[in-house]
Amino acid sequence: MGNTPFWPESASNWAASVDGLYIFLVVVSLVMCTLIFGAVAFLSAKYRRKPGVQPVAIEGSHLLEITWSVLPMFFFFAFFLGGALVYFHERTPPQGATEVYVVAKQWMWKLEHPEGQREINTLHVPLGQDVKLIMTSMDTIHSFYVPAFRIKQDVLPGRYSILWFRATQAGTYHLFCAEYCGTQHSGMIGSVIVQPPAEYQTWLNGGSSSIPLAQTGEKAFAELGCVTCHRSDSQGRGPMLTGIYGKPVVLEDGRSVMVDENYLRESILDPGAKIVAGYKPVMPTFQGIISEEQLAALVAYVKSLTPPAGAPGSAVAQSATPAKSDK
Ligand code: CUA
Repeated sequence: MGNTPFWPESASNWAASVDGLYIFLVVVSLVMCTLIFGAVAFLSAKYRRKPGVQPVAIEGSHLLEITWSVLPMFFFFAFFLGGALVYFHERTPPQGATEVYVVAKQWMWKLEHPEGQREINTLHVPLGQDVKLIMTSMDTIHSFYVPAFRIKQDVLPGRYSILWFRATQAGTYHLFCAEYCGTQHSGMIGSVIVQPPAEYQTWLNGGSSSIPLAQTGEKAFAELGCVTCHRSDSQGRGPMLTGIYGKPVVLEDGRSVMVDENYLRESILDPGAKIVAGYKPVMPTFQGIISEEQLAALVAYVKSLTPPAGAPGSAVAQSATPAKSDK
């Protein structure tokens, strides 16, 4: 499809399914259009008023009514199902994906790699590897749009939007903001550069000696005093953070929530929102105190805290419900 004019290049794992869905929609619409207008033209000619012929009243037909209601319904369900499948798959990143933190602001894209490399309006990604985008905005709503990858996701202030892709073709591709976000919205563009893994590694290693994101987070964790309550043993005033990422924690009201990027974010900015069972709401908010970049670094740091293999170091295991053992 890449050589067809009017059709963007196909450079990610989503291209085939999104294009397939799109072509299916267009073909069904064309067929329906032809059938309907064909029938209108044919029937108007066939049953036109002729001299000497009296019109006959028709009673209607339930069979006909049901047929032309139910058949299109199946097609509409097929649209919905096809779209929903792609949607859920796109928003469920696979384990072990390379992570990139995206911060949108009027009017630029700031991108940060776990290795500490920062970019503006340019995103380098490795070819053939899963890339997970953790995106937020510093002001209004933006939308991260790479036509060649067939991905488009609104980027909202106050939360993380998650999306993933796997680039399937090396090259440079357009990155657009696809949500009107102010006077220079049209200038909020950039490029995604897909490189073979070896070349990508060279790029990562080159340039300024950058500090890994998790390490920046560790420094902030100490400087902001988080470390005094979230200790690496279970004696702290706050929950131990080792190994909590990707696992559920039990809250005071008995609910359990999955510890993902959005939960970590909320717990830093609005600590009272979801308190882990057995702890007191004593943590101050960091809303307005830390920047989105620092927040991303803190989140990356907490995610990097994995217990040594075999150690029972999860927050669930040491929460106030000891009966509930963690598998
Ligand atoms: Cu950002 Cu439009």
